[in-house]
Amino acid sequence: MKTFFASRRRLATAGLLLAGFAVLSSQQTAAPKKGLKDYYKDYFPVGVAVGRAQLQGPEAALIKQQFNSVTPENAMKMGPLHPEENRYFWADADAIVDFAQANKLRVRGHNLLWHEQTPRWLFKNADGSRVSKDVLLKRLHDHIFTVVKRYQGKIYAWDVVNEAIADNPQEFLRNSEWYQICGDEFIAKAFEYAHEADPKAQLFYNDYNTERPEKRERIFKLLKQLKDAKVPIDGVGLQGHWSLQEPTEPELRAALDQYASLGLKVQITELDVSIYPWEKDRRAKRPDESDAYTPELARQQAAQYKMFFRVFRDYKKVLTGVTFWNVSDKYSWLDTYPVAGRKNYPLLFDQNQQPKQAFWEVVQF
Ligand code: XIL
Repeated sequence: MKTFFASRRRLATAGLLLAGFAVLSSQQTAAPKKGLKDYYKDYFPVGVAVGRAQLQGPEAALIKQQFNSVTPENAMKMGPLHPEENRYFWADADAIVDFAQANKLRVRGHNLLWHEQTPRWLFKNADGSRVSKDVLLKRLHDHIFTVVKRYQGKIYAWDVVNEAIADNPQEFLRNSEWYQICGDEFIAKAFEYAHEADPKAQLFYNDYNTERPEKRERIFKLLKQLKDAKVPIDGVGLQGHWSLQEPTEPELRAALDQYASLGLKVQITELDVSIYPWEKDRRAKRPDESDAYTPELARQQAAQYKMFFRVFRDYKKVLTGVTFWNVSDKYSWLDTYPVAGRKNYPLLFDQNQQPKQAFWEVVQF
């Protein structure tokens, strides 16, 4: 009897072990063994945009496993970071930098000057009138010095100026309040202040639709002007808010070639691949619009990601970083932009932080 029970127990144990193995190996085929950062270690760091919400739980685990760089999604923009002239809100930005230091991740600072998410006080005097150019440049200087010096040695690169080129192809610089008050001078000044505050930080100009030939030419013109004027600029960030339709491979290659010809570093700073065609203007949601992530969309998206990363690998001498804008399809800024009420699925990980078909296309080479 004793031996009978003992062998039954052994059998049961063996059965349990086998079942355990089966579960484990099915998980292993679904879960990546390595991170994007490991697959791409001989190419470039792979980063991700984060907020405080992602610093805990399953998304934090995924960040640590997959990425070796982070960009604060909102925490370092002037509006959230500097809500009143004499008050900064450091908690969120500090938490991200601390998380990065604790986990040996690089940090890209984003951003020092933008026409969006600006604090209310910035362009106004106490009496509500518009500030002069001198006052605005002084405020810009003080902001940049305070922020860049606080994170000196912890932030290796800054998006200094974001999106200064106009959307309208007939215009050159965007007609923002920065431009209205300072003319084009604010751009060079921002780079000069940032360089003075931290001479070792790499300084970037960052923009979107950087592969569209007409905008590419205008961005190139601006970058060339800055280089010719010896403004301390190190690189250009291509945001990479792309879609199933664009950019095409020739457009992407032409853009990388043209920007690199100025001797600038190039980074992809905000990569995502929308399942909807590009639209900048907000519109009402059409009643017939489905936001399902169909197998066909997943296939097209995987093919698009595969092409992008094949090109990135070809340009490893030019590209010094590729950063995704958000961690997984659980949350993407594109869920509400430019249209609220439809879901987007633009990233390499699904809503449960599992790798999508696109992930495997990116890491198999
Ligand atoms: C977006 C954030 O993801 C959103 O949470 C926020 O509401 C608006 O800004 N280009 C940029 C980023 O440079 O800062 C933007 O981030 C996306 C477009």
